Amino acid sequence: MTGAARGLGEAIARRLHADGDRVVLADVNLAGVEELAAELGSGASAVEHDVRSLDSWERLLAGAGTVDVLVNNAARTEFGSFWELDLDEWDDVLATNLRGVYLGCRVVGAQMRDRGAGRIVNLASVAGQRGGSATGVHYASSKAAIVALTRHAAAELARSGVTVNAVAPAAIDGPMVSQVPPEKVEAMVKTIPVGRLGRGEEVAAAVAYLASDAAAFVTGATLDVNGGMLMR
Ligand SMILES: NC(=O)c1ccc[n+]([C@@H]2O[C@H](COP(=O)([O-])OP(=O)(O)OC[C@H]3O[C@@H](n4cnc5c(N)ncnc54)[C@H](O)[C@@H]3O)[C@@H](O)[C@H]2O)c1
Repeated sequence: MTGAARGLGEAIARRLHADGDRVVLADVNLAGVEELAAELGSGASAVEHDVRSLDSWERLLAGAGTVDVLVNNAARTEFGSFWELDLDEWDDVLATNLRGVYLGCRVVGAQMRDRGAGRIVNLASVAGQRGGSATGVHYASSKAAIVALTRHAAAELARSGVTVNAVAPAAIDGPMVSQVPPEKVEAMVKTIPVGRLGRGEEVAAAVAYLASDAAAFVTGATLDVNGGMLMR
């Protein structure tokens, strides 16, 4: 479970742990995941992990042992003008949000493939599914690419008992949204038909379903959790 120190990653980790899974909380923010692991207690452990790095993925897998479920959640959510984006920031957002997910699918997916079982869930976003998003073009582009990567990995792994799916939330109440000025959040809520922000637990429930045995025939799918913001 990557990016578990706060926000949606924390909500998903809490849900999977409550469902009885042993959870490995992986994040660049070691103090954050250590705090959560201490609170969750038995069945939770914390590890410093940088999703951008192949070495870090290999170390993570060696420490984790057999992985039943991989949740690729870590991301940088960045805003900013299309015309003035810092190009180093472009590269780092793509490295975190897209290469990180690819490396997770490749390193952990290979173990799952060889074992003949596994579940991978990648966090996409409505920002990658429709134009005119409040987020930056680098963020939106990385999230759109996750849908294609998810389908590709799903096809690679379909015969191995491994499913690969994405969850695409709209704005969810939490630390990321709290960094956005209130008037922008209000404007965002107006575009959501159900008339409110989503809740971390609602995204976590979608992830828990895709991670379950019941979802064995669902692969390559993107499950929208967006309050009707995009209907398709
Ligand atoms: N919050 C939303 O409204 C929303 C909406 C749509 C999609 N999403 C997606 O859900 C996921 C979680 O979003 P969030 O809002 O909880 O994000 P967040 O910014 O609150 O948390 C992201 C976590 O990822 C970690 N992280 C960042 N870079 C990392 C790296 N290189 N290696 C390992 N960990 C790293 C951070 O330390 C942090 O704990 C993201 O993939 C995001 O794109 C979120």
